[in-house]
Amino acid sequence: MGPIDAEVVMNTRGTKLAVIGAGAVGTAVAYASLIRGVARTIALMDINTAKVEAEVLDMSHGLEFVPRTDIIGGDTMDVVADSDVVVFTAGAKQKPGQSRLELAEATIGLTRAILPKAVEAAPNAVFIMVTNPVDIVTNAALKISGLPNNQLFGSGTVLDSSRLRFLIAQHAGVAVQNVHAYIAGEHGDSEIPLWSSAAIGGVPLREWKPLPGYEPIDEEVRRRIAHEVVHAAYKIIDGKGATNYAIGLATTRIVEAVLNNEHRVLPVSTLATGFEGLDDVCLSLPSLVDRTGCAQRLDVSVDDTERAGLMASADTLRNMQKQFGL
Ligand code: 2OP
Repeated sequence: MGPIDAEVVMNTRGTKLAVIGAGAVGTAVAYASLIRGVARTIALMDINTAKVEAEVLDMSHGLEFVPRTDIIGGDTMDVVADSDVVVFTAGAKQKPGQSRLELAEATIGLTRAILPKAVEAAPNAVFIMVTNPVDIVTNAALKISGLPNNQLFGSGTVLDSSRLRFLIAQHAGVAVQNVHAYIAGEHGDSEIPLWSSAAIGGVPLREWKPLPGYEPIDEEVRRRIAHEVVHAAYKIIDGKGATNYAIGLATTRIVEAVLNNEHRVLPVSTLATGFEGLDDVCLSLPSLVDRTGCAQRLDVSVDDTERAGLMASADTLRNMQKQFGL
């Protein structure tokens, strides 16, 4: 192995991911990251000592079966020290029937208490906020931490976009990996699908001719799909109390984009400019994610309905954040 290869190996092997919060979401992020081998060290932090120790022990017993990783945990920020990426999942749990926005007060308080200590422990890390309501919490976290916009952003609608792609793939009879479509705006009830730029295998979705045995993806089907995406979390929470596996995988995808400097387009929640001057609320639009974090928003093209939906979603978030002095 030549000196350049050795350096690449050293760099990837040195990486550290910290996950704050050992609840359903935090442990799913840690577990997915462990299986995918995204970092040399994964650190789990939670104030519940017994819980964090048990989770780390459980995952340690699977280390034989995953790419070489060390997993550590603890109830103080010491375990977060010198991380390259910090994923923040600490927060109140959404109860059945409760919207993400209703969680805001409790989670902002918690963010105020915990985040500064995490930033002190890992000042150069890229911070990914996952706690709901993620757009409001991300905006609050930027103000609380004083970190630049690129260095702290939210998981946004990466999960919702994946839900959208899954449903389109099912209707089209095509692999989900061949569907390109984004949910933009709030990660929540006012989010909107960007149908005008959606494509299946390079064919614009609006021109898609159904395969034999499949129905056309017409306006009525698109309306049903959009409804199902928005209501997906409520359905899962009703059935099992929380959503965790898909957000674990989605967040791990974002972590990989950062640690591998992938320049990947992901709809993360950011305060960045780049779309019609929308820079006072954190919301999701396709953005470039690399080793610096959320490097920039793309200037996506939208039709009039999507633009109106996006502005309405921004208004929802703007009204909510005012209540928290953001
Ligand atoms: C989800 O969309 C509840 O935000 C969580 O699964």
